Amino acid sequence: MKAGILSQERSAAMGRARRTAAGTARGGSRCPPLLLLLLLGSCCHMLHGQEVAPYLRGGGLRQQVVLEGNRLVLTCLAGGSWPLQYRWTLNNSDVTGWTPQYRLSVGSLKRTDAGLYQCVVRNRMGAVIHGRTEVQVAFMGTFSAEEQRKTVTQGRAAIINQPPLASFPRPLVTWYKDGHKIIPNNQIAITLDNQLVVLATTAADAGRYHVEAVNEMTGENATSSAVYLSISGIC
Ligand SMILES: *[C@@H]1O[C@H](CO)[C@@H](O)[C@H](O)[C@H]1NC(C)=O
Ligand SMILES: *[C@@H]1O[C@H](CO)[C@@H](O)[C@H](O)[C@H]1NC(C)=O
Repeated sequence: MKAGILSQERSAAMGRARRTAAGTARGGSRCPPLLLLLLLGSCCHMLHGQEVAPYLRGGGLRQQVVLEGNRLVLTCLAGGSWPLQYRWTLNNSDVTGWTPQYRLSVGSLKRTDAGLYQCVVRNRMGAVIHGRTEVQVAFMGTFSAEEQRKTVTQGRAAIINQPPLASFPRPLVTWYKDGHKIIPNNQIAITLDNQLVVLATTAADAGRYHVEAVNEMTGENATSSAVYLSISGIC
């Protein structure tokens, strides 16, 4: 309200200034009249003319993948009458208050910073909401050091779960038995959840199993502890 009244008063004052200047110019002032009129014209056009509500410039990225520990930079490009103010949210919760910064910069991104980022731009005339950007954080944790033991009756199926590993994106996993890479065949399958399934166990399936995981995004790899499989005789 106050800003509106102020700007009206200023506009009126500039209008008077323009009339005076024009009068002086006709009156044969030493100032170059054209330049003066142009200067006044451009300044008064901005003050007089309608203020422009914020509008978005450029769509921005819909999705970004950032490595954990790296810097996240998001921009919110908008036009409209000055001053523009920006505010950022993550999953609809405020990340910043209203700020003149059109850039959001997070120094060392954590995996818990992943989510949907969005900015709102406002000025005296209104506000506009930018499309969401999904920020994903690529990371890989480590396997637990704990070894596992499993016993299966001969002839039965053995199902060995992939030892748990926190990772984004899902790692590529390779199973090994006694240090040799396991190639799936009609006796051994690897499920979409990276479980190893030995369909009908024989004594030869006993041994030391482990997995190696690679995160394609971070380039990191990890080796699990052993899972020892024993095959018991048929009782
Ligand atoms: C935001 O929402 C996504 C999807 O529901 C969720 O995975 C993520 O952890 C949330 N981020 C925060 C910071 O709450
Ligand atoms: C795992 O990472 C180490 C060190 O970064 C590297 O020397 C090794 O070759 C990698 N192994 C695989 C299977 O990618």
